[in-house]
This record gives sequence, structure tokens and C-alpha cells, in this order.
Amino acid sequence: MTNPGVLVIFGATGDLARRMLFPSLYFLDADQLLTSGLRIVGAARSDLTDEAFRAEVKTSVEERLGSPVPDATWARFSARLSYCPGDASDPGTYKRLSAMIRGDQERVYYLSTSPSLYIPIVNGLASESLTGAPSRIIVEKPIGRSLETCEAINGAIGKHFDEPRIFRIDHYLGKEAVQNLIALRFANTLFEPLWNRHTIEHVQITVAETLGVGDRYSYYDDFGAIRDMVQNHLLQLLCLIAMEPPSSMNPESVRNEKVKVLRSLRPLRDVDLPVRTVRGQYVRGMSDGQAVASYLEDGSAAESDTETFVALCAHIDNWRWKDVPFYLRTGKRLPHRSSQIVIQFRTVPHSIFGDTHLMANRLTIRLQPEEEISLSLMNKTPTLSQGGYELRPLELNLSLSDAFRSEIRRRIAYERLLLEAINNNSTLFVRRDEAEAAWTWVDRIIEGWTRSGIRPAPYPAGSWGPAGAFALTERNGHTWSE
Ligand code: BG6
Repeated sequence: MTNPGVLVIFGATGDLARRMLFPSLYFLDADQLLTSGLRIVGAARSDLTDEAFRAEVKTSVEERLGSPVPDATWARFSARLSYCPGDASDPGTYKRLSAMIRGDQERVYYLSTSPSLYIPIVNGLASESLTGAPSRIIVEKPIGRSLETCEAINGAIGKHFDEPRIFRIDHYLGKEAVQNLIALRFANTLFEPLWNRHTIEHVQITVAETLGVGDRYSYYDDFGAIRDMVQNHLLQLLCLIAMEPPSSMNPESVRNEKVKVLRSLRPLRDVDLPVRTVRGQYVRGMSDGQAVASYLEDGSAAESDTETFVALCAHIDNWRWKDVPFYLRTGKRLPHRSSQIVIQFRTVPHSIFGDTHLMANRLTIRLQPEEEISLSLMNKTPTLSQGGYELRPLELNLSLSDAFRSEIRRRIAYERLLLEAINNNSTLFVRRDEAEAAWTWVDRIIEGWTRSGIRPAPYPAGSWGPAGAFALTERNGHTWSE
């Protein structure tokens, strides 16, 4: 007797599984989006029975839901769940797992563990012949902390899974508002003729967080903002904004276009770093009205050269974008949580309105906390004066959250990604060459910082980063849009 499919989650008792993966799977099931025979096996070190594991999952789902789960929905979902205890480096674990899943036709493995376990887990699965097609594997970021380590992980996984069966998660690609970037650009004719260096002056991509590093210090201190956020989330956003129109939503069409953008990023030379990059580290300050500790205090550390803020000025060397600055900025303990992309258009070539200041059009795409698109346009104010026209910029606003409020609740990014991986569609996952091209660009910056002795500048928690971040844009006559 064979089952149609099984999803095995390694790291099933960990933070990500608890906060995101199990609630996402529960919601998918509640919405009847999981195939009826799909089983879910949790694998982790803790010695739990199936019953105890189900009880843990129930608690996580209810925490997310904010209320008890309805009995019938829970009964259906929990019947899918079972548990395989064991250490990732113990061959016995894979023997036990094999006995549980050998009969499943399609196996999807989700590695929600520390990246140091990726290679032992893949080798363990291979030792029990559990990696053959159509088995697939989903891996979480970070895939390495440099090009070299990323290649090593990709190489080790690639020995047992060919590339179409590897799903590298960047959870930003699962966000509704991020997917809407593709719709905005390619389901409308309005923007495409304007989407180039002739009309666009610069682009800003900001992902700002108010939280500090909290209990993730030991992971974070080894990575910093450039590896934790820029190498993946910010560069993926940049790809979606800058890529050429793909010929379809097919995984290879979309990813071919994204990797071309990454390969066209102008390498930042050591001489560019002081003017095109800014590193910061938060010190004591205020966040959401509360006094908060410094980064070093958060980690009880005496010193650290890790940046919690980074701002960069990137260029894409191709016909469409030549010399258009793409400003990227991300940080912890910034004044508010906000992720947005600003497309700043050029000013009119000649004003017929005398001395009246004309503000250039600006398209702002807010990804979170609210999903909104607004376009600023110059308008005439309804006043009479001797001096002719009085003009003012007004916003044309589209609130996606309001437009779809009655139709659907806000989904967790992982719901979409899990569903796509289970359905074997890799459009929203990062291909090996993309991950490696992104590391190539980022590595050069990190190595340059070390060579040039560029250390993070302090910024008070609750501010928009070190002063250098403002100079970065002002140098080109531009200003950040907050
Ligand atoms: C993760 C980073 O990938 O993304 C975290 O490791 C960061 O440091 C998080 O806080 C931000 O994700 P989101 O969805 O809250 O914007």
C-alpha cells in the first residue's frame, strides 16, 4: 500500500516550525488546500510520542490563531501528523524515518534546522536511499555565509537532489505584496514603457525593523545585516523591480531574468565602499517609546564588528538601468517597521509654471506593515490667484489590504511557499545560480570592508541609522523617503 505523499519537517520542534510552518500547514488544510492523503512527519531530537508532538503542534497553531482550533478541523489535520525522534548525525534516525516513509510515493523534506545540519541530513537520507526522484528538498536561508560555503552546501545537496528538486526558500517571495510586484509590472501596460533609465531617476528599497536582535545574537553576530537581509531579501526585491519581462511564469523563465540582474550588478570596488556603503550598529536609544539596550548589551558582548544596519548604492550595468542608483537600506532598531520600494521618476524636462516647484512623480510600493501602492501626481489647487497656477502633489492610493479585506485573511508567507513546494512549482524559490551570484556581489563588499578597515558606525536605537546613510543619497542630490 503506498501513500500519495509525505512532508518531513526536520527541526520540527524549533522556532520556525512552531511559529510559521505548522500554523501555515494547518491553515492550508483548513482551507482544503492540502491533498487528502498528504502525511506530515516531524523529525527532531526531542524524545516525543506522536501524541505529545501533536499536542505541541496544537499549542503552536492556537498561539497563532489566537483561539482554540475547531475540533473537526483539528481532527483532520492532526491525523496527518506523526513524529520521528532522533539526532541528525545518528544513522539510526534515518532507519527509523525510512520505516515510516518508505511507502510514500512523493517525499518532500523541509530542513528547518541549523544550516550546519544540512549536509548530515542529506547524507543520512541518501544512506537509506530516500533521495531519489521525485523526492524534493526545501532549504531555509542562510545557504552559507559566503560564496564558498554556499557552493559547498549546494554541492553536497546537489549530489543527491538535482537542481529542479531543490527549493531554496526566501520567505519574502512568499509575501503577497512581493508577488504583487510581478502583477504590477507585468499585468499592466502602464508602467513598462516608463520602467527604465529615461524616466526613472532612482529606486529605493528599504526594509526597516524596530526589533533588536534579541535572543538571536549568536546567529546574528556571525552574519550581520548584509548577509542576513541584503544577500537574500533585498536583492530578491531588487531583481523583481529590475528584471526584464519573463516570457511566462514558468520557474526557469522568471529565474533566468532574475539571475541576469544579479550578474549585472556593478561590483563595488574598495574605492567605492566609503561613498557607496554604510555600516551601522545600534547603541542605546528608544524603540516604541521604551528605552532599549545597545546591540552589544543585547549579546552581553564586549565588542563586535557586526553591522545591524546597512545602506548601499548599487548600479545595474545594462541598457535599461545604466547609471540609475538603486539604494538599498535595512536595519534593526529603526524608528518603525516598514518595507517599501520607491520608484522616483525624473522631473519634467521643462516647466511651463514659472517659479512653481514641481515635485517629480513617485511610485511607492509599501510591502508591510500595510500593503499599499501610491503614486504622487502634481495637481492644480482649486484657488484663484494673480500668479497663475498653484500646484500641489497629491497621492493616488491603492490599499490592497482594504480592497481584499472581505475576501481573504492575510496569509503567512510560508503558506504559499509550502503549497508551491508540495505542488512542485519552483518559480518562487531561489535557484543555485541566483544564490551564488548574490553571494559573489555581497562577498566583494564584505571583503572590501575588511581590507579597508570599514567598521560599523554607531546609531541610536530608534533612528534611521548613521549620518552616513543620509550622505549616501544626498551626494547624488537624492533623499530617502521615510
Ligand atoms: C529573516 C531575518 O530572514 O527576516 C531576520 O533572518 C529578519 O533577521 C526577518 O528579522 C524579517 O522578516 P519579516 O518577514 O518580518 O520582514
